Amino acid sequence: MNEVLVIAVDGPSGSGKGTVSRLISERLGWGLLDSGAMYRLLALDCLKNAIDLENEAAVAKTAGEMVIEFKNCKETQEIKVFLEGEDVTKELRTETTGNAASKVAANPSARKALLEKQRDFARAPGLVADGRDMGTVVFPDARLKIFLTATAEERAKRRYKQLKQNGFDVNLAALLREIEERDERDMNRSSAPLKPADDALIIDSSSMTIEEVVEKIMEAFQK
Ligand code: DC
Repeated sequence: MNEVLVIAVDGPSGSGKGTVSRLISERLGWGLLDSGAMYRLLALDCLKNAIDLENEAAVAKTAGEMVIEFKNCKETQEIKVFLEGEDVTKELRTETTGNAASKVAANPSARKALLEKQRDFARAPGLVADGRDMGTVVFPDARLKIFLTATAEERAKRRYKQLKQNGFDVNLAALLREIEERDERDMNRSSAPLKPADDALIIDSSSMTIEEVVEKIMEAFQK
């Protein structure tokens, strides 16, 4: 049997899991699933088509029908994301999209509609899956489960730096408030709430560099 190995990296927004997951997937030569991007794509699709984010059935229908594509851009080492053929990579990263994503992510029917789309990413030799419920729901048999976290203040600072670098005008206090609100929503929703899997290795990255986190995960994987 050709088993597809999965490393699940879950954690709150701004914990560094996106960067860490990309670096690990490159080191191992594995595929990468940024599941947060799927919720962001769904939110964007709803916003573009004036679909009420609270309308459970309409949002789930959109989730089932949306046409999405991830393309690896070798020159910029960036993954470009397309919605209905349109490049939405930049739009996907705004706080407006992030907040809307957190709302549609609380919709159990939409989560169900996205489940198979996420599992389709598991191809040999392996997959690094980054999200909130990779180890608990989407890939419960993952070979290694990581729960990456950091204090809300540290995460707000990182997000601030990242958004500034990308040319967005942002306010640190407002970002911290948004991160806390999003944590609250992600952790307390009834469908697939953000929490470590029972068998997850918990890593607090507050005072660690990205490289240190990558090394720690690689060590755990080799064991
Ligand atoms: O990781 P991110 O900020 O791109 O995620 C956007 C939103 O999607 C976030 O509020 C939580 C949600 N999400 C989720 O519920 N489950 C996942 N597997 C990934 C993201």
